[in-house]
Amino acid sequence: MAKSKKRYVCQACGSVSHRWQGQCPDCAEWNTLVEDAPATIFSQKHDLSSGGRAIAFEPLDAPGEVLTRRTTGLAEFDRALGGGLVPGSAILMGGDPGIGKSTLLLQAAAKIAKAGSETVYVSGEEAAGQVRLRASRLELADAPIRLAAATSVRDILTTLNTMAPPALLVIDSIQTMHSDTIEGAPGTVSQVRGCAFELIRYAKENGVALVLVGHVTKDGTIAGPRVLEHMVDVVMSFEGERSHQYRILRSLKNRFGPVDEIGVFAMAGQGLDEVANPSMLFLSGRDEPMAGSAVFPALEGTRPVLIEVQALIVRLQSGATPRRAVVGWDNGRLAMLLAVLEARCGLNFSSAEVYLNVAGGYRLTDPAADLAVGAALVSALADRPLPAKSVWFGEVSLAGEVRPVAHSTLRVRESAKLGFGCGFGPMEDKAGPASPSAFRYRGIRQLANLVDQVMATT
Ligand code: TYD
Ligand code: MG
Repeated sequence: MAKSKKRYVCQACGSVSHRWQGQCPDCAEWNTLVEDAPATIFSQKHDLSSGGRAIAFEPLDAPGEVLTRRTTGLAEFDRALGGGLVPGSAILMGGDPGIGKSTLLLQAAAKIAKAGSETVYVSGEEAAGQVRLRASRLELADAPIRLAAATSVRDILTTLNTMAPPALLVIDSIQTMHSDTIEGAPGTVSQVRGCAFELIRYAKENGVALVLVGHVTKDGTIAGPRVLEHMVDVVMSFEGERSHQYRILRSLKNRFGPVDEIGVFAMAGQGLDEVANPSMLFLSGRDEPMAGSAVFPALEGTRPVLIEVQALIVRLQSGATPRRAVVGWDNGRLAMLLAVLEARCGLNFSSAEVYLNVAGGYRLTDPAADLAVGAALVSALADRPLPAKSVWFGEVSLAGEVRPVAHSTLRVRESAKLGFGCGFGPMEDKAGPASPSAFRYRGIRQLANLVDQVMATT
C-alpha cells in the first residue's frame, strides 16, 4: 500500500526534509525550504528479483561507436568544450547575471546556423524582440537561427517534434522553464529537474546538442538542485568581473574531454571577441618594478598565462580591526598565507590592512600561486619592489616550505619567451626546471628565504 507524505526541498542544495524549517539543516541557508510534490513511500517491501525483462550485456569494444564532434566555429568555445559539441549531449552553462552567457550562445548558434545547420534558440527570459536587438548589435541578424520566446516545455517539445532535429538547441534559461505535469512555480527544484529531464531526453533521442543556461547563486553555484549537474554531460562556467573586459569559459565537468582547458573572450561593443593568445592579458604592462606587485606564471590547460598579483598593506594607527579584502583569489588561502608569514617568518600583519588584487579580473585557482602572493605581500610590507622581470610560483605549506608544483619547465619556458629574465620557484631535485640559458632560476626552500631575498633587494 502506498501512502503520501509531505516533503520539503531546499531550493539551494536540494536536500529533502519531512517538516518545514526556517533554515536548511544541510546547507544552512535561510528560507529555502519549499513544499515539493509528495513522494510515494511504500510501506511494504517489493520483491524486484523477478518479473523483469532480461538485459543484454555488451563488450566494451563494440564497433561503430565513434565520438563525433561538431565544431561551433568559435575556437575558444570549442577548446573549452574539449573539441566541439557532441551530438546528443547536454551542456549546463552557469555564470553571473550579465556576464555574457546569452551573447556567447547567440554568437555560437549564429556561427552554426551560418555554416548550414539548423539551430534553435529558446529564450524564456527575454522577448524575441530583445534577442533580435542583441543579434543586430552583434551584426548577426542575418543568421538563420530559429528564435522563440517560450517557457512551456510541452510547447517547446511539441514544436520540436514536428520538425527535423536541430544541431543545437539553446534553452535560456532552465530556471524559467515550466512543465504542466509538475506542481510548483518555474525555478523550483522539482520544476527545474523535471524540465531538464524532458529536454535532455529529447536531445539524447534525437542527437541534438543541448545547452541549458543556468542561473548562479550568490556563492557561485548553479541555482537549483545539484542533481542538474549530475544529469548533464558537461558543466561549464562563464566567469569574469563584469567591470573588466575579459571572460573565461571553463568546464567543470566533461564526460567527453578534459576539464582543464579554458576559452578566453573579451567583451567588446560588438559582442565577445575570441582571445587566441591570452598569455600577456593579465599583466599591467608597466616596465618599472613596483612594490607589492608579483608576476605568476599560471597554466590554464595547456596554455600558460602570466598574471600580475598586486598587494597593498596599510598600517593602522588606531586599534580598529584591520580589513582584509581579496579580489580574484581565495579569502581563506590569504588568511593562511598571512598566518604562515607571521608564524614562520616573523613578519607582523596584525595591525595592518591587507588588500590583494589579481589584475584584469582573473580568478586564480592554481595552488602554485601561493609563492607569487607571498612575494607580493612581503614586497608590499617592505615597500621594496621585487627584482625586475621576475616570475614566482610554488605552493606554500603550513610549515612554510615551498613545495614543487606541476609543469615548472613549461612555466619557466613561457616566462622566458615573454621576456622575463628570472624565476623563483620550488627547490627541485636537479638543477631546476630546464630553462633557456639567459633565464636565471632560483630555488626557494622556505618562505623565510623569500623574505631574505626581498629584503636583500635594493
Ligand atoms: P548577456 O549575454 O545578456 O549576459 P547574461 O546572459 O550572462 O546575463 O550580456 C549582457 C552584458 O554584456 C550587458 O551588460 C552588456 C554587455 N554587452 C556588451 O558589452 N557588448 C555587446 O555587444 C553585448 C551584446 C553585450
Ligand atoms: Mg541572459
